Amino acid sequence: MDQVIYVENLRHTYNDVVAVDDISFFVKRGEIFGLLGPNGAGKSTTTEILVGLKKRKAGLVKVLGFDPQDSDNEFKKRIGVQLQTPALFERLKVKEMLHLFASFYPQPLKVKETLELVGLEEKQNTLSSKLSGGQLQRLSVALALISNADIIFLDEPTTGLDPQSRRGMWDVIEDLQKQGKTIFLTTHYLDEAEKLCGRVAIVDYGKIIALGTPEELIHYHFAEQALEFNIPVEKRHLLASTVEGAKIEFNENRATVYTTEVVSTVASLLSLKDNGFKLDSLTVRGATLEDVFLKLTGRRIRE
Ligand SMILES: Nc1ncnc2c1ncn2[C@@H]1O[C@H](COP(=O)(O)OP(=O)(O)OP(=O)(O)O)[C@@H](O)[C@H]1O
Ligand SMILES: [Mg+2]
Repeated sequence: MDQVIYVENLRHTYNDVVAVDDISFFVKRGEIFGLLGPNGAGKSTTTEILVGLKKRKAGLVKVLGFDPQDSDNEFKKRIGVQLQTPALFERLKVKEMLHLFASFYPQPLKVKETLELVGLEEKQNTLSSKLSGGQLQRLSVALALISNADIIFLDEPTTGLDPQSRRGMWDVIEDLQKQGKTIFLTTHYLDEAEKLCGRVAIVDYGKIIALGTPEELIHYHFAEQALEFNIPVEKRHLLASTVEGAKIEFNENRATVYTTEVVSTVASLLSLKDNGFKLDSLTVRGATLEDVFLKLTGRRIRE
């Protein structure tokens, strides 16, 4: 197995804040690996350590055989990096910035091609300081893509993008994989991780709380299907005795009941109509990574 990223017992602190708490994982060549977690989970800290921008406090890290923190330019040429808070040159136009970044790499993509990938052709002569938030985000991804490097690090590549641009970015990321590249990405979008990533590590408070393919994580934690329906808050108490033993989660006026016995559970819920409760807007779905996160932490990823 060809491991291009190897991390063992990585730890990082800022004064008394433990940002990364003893995590271990590896990334295989050609996979899309996702670090998934809520705000403050330690995703950016980990990314910055992997790309050599931050010195770790403890642990072992190898990327393409290099130790990022004492690596030379050779290492930097072999990775493309998009940071969550990039330091951009405000006085450069979009295309000038891309030309500058292209000059750092041995076999960069063409500037025109890169602009097309992220849909910034019309903004190529605009100063980066005059871009909208979403455009700036696309520029920062473009600066990673232009490297044409073997490993592309993307720290929340789709945060702040409109739904259509987000899907466009998913296509770009999937194409990178088809070209044989390895992608390390962070996200707090569970649907994004489920769609794109071969394997994910779910992180919370600096620790990995689950690691595997999205399917493995879902099947390991849930044999159940999720039934969702509307229920007024004052009727919540009716459920506990009706679907005895089943796990129930409430979110405002919506309830989720996890069950392996879909038909009989629906039948029990229908019997509640005598209490003035009708089964409104019922959906039945398989469990998702969102359910896994909720089960492991008791919280939703974006509260
Ligand atoms: N430069 C810093 N100085 C002090 N504390 C920091 C610094 N950078 C991050 N932290 C803290 O370390 C923890 C992890 O932060 P990090 O930015 O790695 O999280 P994240 O998972 O990337 O979050 P987000 O989803 O908000 O980007 C947080 O508690 C944060 O407040
Ligand atoms: Mg971050």
